[in-house]
Amino acid sequence: MSGLFITFEGIEGCGKSTQTKLLAEYFRKNGEDVFLSREPGGPNISEKIREILLANENSEMLSNTEVLLYAASRSQHTGEWILPELKAGKIVICDRYFDSTTAYQGAARKIDRKMIDTITSFATFGLKPDITVLIDLAVSVGLARISPKDADRLESESLDFHKKVREGFLQIAKTEKRFIVVDGSKSIAEISNEIINKIEKRLKNEDK
Ligand code: TMP
Repeated sequence: MSGLFITFEGIEGCGKSTQTKLLAEYFRKNGEDVFLSREPGGPNISEKIREILLANENSEMLSNTEVLLYAASRSQHTGEWILPELKAGKIVICDRYFDSTTAYQGAARKIDRKMIDTITSFATFGLKPDITVLIDLAVSVGLARISPKDADRLESESLDFHKKVREGFLQIAKTEKRFIVVDGSKSIAEISNEIINKIEKRLKNEDK
């Protein structure tokens, strides 16, 4: 088996972290070997880059620097952790991956899509998720779940910025077959059941 790579995407406060854990729990109960991670982050180098990216004191960061730092973090994470775990046959679940770059740095920061795709393919060694779950939610609802005093550099961006991020994700989901879109305004249990059912259906169809 060559492993299975599942990523989760969505705006701030959409409930991704909770849902990645619930999906991991579901697979583990079924006896699967699961590796759970997040971006930006993972191995030591990538976590250090995460700190730079999210620190509010780095308000002077240029968009070009930002996109390269997300890519640098992803490259280390993919090469050091994700690819070896997939090779070992595990189910790798990741809270955010390169679609976040397309939505945040592309749709919201307006960095050219072709440039993003080039940087992404270099940073990921060409790896793409098998399935991506987009938890869609109104920006006002997502942001209301974050306390302003705890907001990091990205979370502190304007409402308009976050609306562009949401639109960016929905746009990608329209063109990429690997996407499963779920309604993030439902209860945690309902969302989890929907995700599990849709993933199982996908996996069954792929077996045929
Ligand atoms: P998190 O809050 O989901 O841990 O993600 C950290 C922040 O980084 C979040 O605001 C989204 C942002 N982000 C990007 O702007 N580009 C990316 O490529 C990734 C992975 C995250």
